[in-house]
Amino acid sequence: MGNLLENKKILVMGVANKRSIAWGCANALEEQGATVIYTYQNERMKKSVSRLVTDEERLIECDVAQDESIEQAFAEVKNRFGKLDGIVHAIAFANKEELAGDIQNTSREGYALANNISSYSLLAVAHYGQELLNDPASIVTLTYFGSERAIPNYNVMGVAKAALEANVRYLARDMGKYGVRVNAISAGAVKTLAVTGVKDHSNLLQESQDRTVDGASVTTKEIGGACAFLMSDLSTGVVGDTIYVDKGVHLI
Ligand SMILES: NC(=O)c1ccc[n+]([C@@H]2O[C@H](COP(=O)([O-])OP(=O)(O)OC[C@H]3O[C@@H](n4cnc5c(N)ncnc54)[C@H](O)[C@@H]3O)[C@@H](O)[C@H]2O)c1
Repeated sequence: MGNLLENKKILVMGVANKRSIAWGCANALEEQGATVIYTYQNERMKKSVSRLVTDEERLIECDVAQDESIEQAFAEVKNRFGKLDGIVHAIAFANKEELAGDIQNTSREGYALANNISSYSLLAVAHYGQELLNDPASIVTLTYFGSERAIPNYNVMGVAKAALEANVRYLARDMGKYGVRVNAISAGAVKTLAVTGVKDHSNLLQESQDRTVDGASVTTKEIGGACAFLMSDLSTGVVGDTIYVDKGVHLI
């Protein structure tokens, strides 16, 4: 238990279950004294998230596919908690058929959907959340190395992650003047619900593990640690950056 984030209220978007990277982040934030508020995608997700977070007050629905839902979620946050010191955006989605085979077979709809949920949503969240953000505040999103290298089957999600990282840089520029820092964590591969959508994900996970410096996969706890740092005042000089938390996979 530390006190890096004492008196900070942070919204964590993207917990599906205990394996979620967002859950690793939330735990690390709470361990540093933050009050964490959660959004869940829909009623189905609410069931699994409620098993982890028993305080109903801190659970708010938000489907990032719809502006009204995002607007409503922030109105609810404002009602229940007032201002925020940070937002963790750990959300991505693509249809299974787009995460397999050759990228030239990506459909127009599938491309739009993946980019809408996985990249555009960060802008929408920043837009509707801006009014609630204190000065200073911090926004952190989650990306993956498939934005830079052509990882088998990652395809359209790699494109969405590249756009997400560009969003981070532009948002950092435009929100910086209001005291809001925006950064991304490029996390190593972890077995979560989202990863199982990628064809041959066990190969992806194994190959990633084989490339870490010590042969062990990065954990959601380690990713959470970096998230706590980025939410804290220790990182006030880190702006618009993508920080690798992958145990060296990107080097090797
Ligand atoms: N697992 C990995 O190996 C890995 C590596 C690097 C980055 N990431 C990124 O981390 C983030 C979290 O993913 P995860 O791996 O923890 O998987 P996860 O399945 O636990 O989390 C994904 C979350 O996205 C949410 N989501 C999807 N569509 C949504 C919508 N329309 N509205 C609101 N929420 C929606 C889901 O409900 C879920 O909570 C994603 O951005 C993912 O791309 C994952």
